[in-house]
Amino acid sequence: MIYLTVVKGIVLAGGSGSRLYPLTKITNKHLLPIYDKPMVYYPIQTLVDAGIRDILLVTGGRNSGDFLRLLGNGKEFGLKHLNYTYQEGEGGIAEALALAEHFADGDQVCVILGDNLIEGNIRDAVDDFRQRDRGARIFLKEVQDAQRFGVAELDGDRIVGIEEKPARPKSNYAVTGIYLYDSSVFDKCRNLKPSHRGELEITDVNNAYIAEGTMTFALLDGWWTDAGTFDSLLRATNLVARKLKVADAAAD
Ligand code: G1P
Repeated sequence: MIYLTVVKGIVLAGGSGSRLYPLTKITNKHLLPIYDKPMVYYPIQTLVDAGIRDILLVTGGRNSGDFLRLLGNGKEFGLKHLNYTYQEGEGGIAEALALAEHFADGDQVCVILGDNLIEGNIRDAVDDFRQRDRGARIFLKEVQDAQRFGVAELDGDRIVGIEEKPARPKSNYAVTGIYLYDSSVFDKCRNLKPSHRGELEITDVNNAYIAEGTMTFALLDGWWTDAGTFDSLLRATNLVARKLKVADAAAD
């Protein structure tokens, strides 16, 4: 019998969504539509497709109750239960992640940003990560507009550093918002200092793993997009619409 350790899923769906104002004036960014579903459905489905069943949603702000009404216990995703926690204020991605320590309870975690959508499936990478007892793994994607993201600096097949939204990117490889971590991630979050924008940055968490020599990466297959700006929101909608139409045509 092969014993597989549990990887728990964490969807980060807080923040003010200021880049989408006024769409986000009266609702949370992750409740906005992407083609035929609310944005938050996609990252949850990504985790479920990867075989993850224990999922925590971290959100905040005035509309946080709407997530409960929308998602309930996750029945639409074939889940028996969905966990929720509340982020006070907007202290950044790593601050939101730190709230998941109790939920993770020593297990490995797969963290996904609530505005990240992918075409493919990360199941193989997650299963491979389960076999390891320490470290982290991130997913990279080649993009044209790397300065909008965390950008990886590569040396052969090694990742030597990540810069957050650099003016002059050292590669075209964006760090996507999907991360696999061992349980030491919470100690790393505790040691962070706020960045110039006053937030605890996930890039600093990843650089701590790189400094420790325990970071690996995979290149993501298929398309990837965020949906946190007007252009990427539109792009996400178009990509999802096309994917569904291709799937419908294949089924006919
Ligand atoms: C965040 C991360 C960034 C990453 C991006 C992926 O940026 O800080 O490193 O590349 O998500 O979507 P944000 O879009 O939240 O500013």
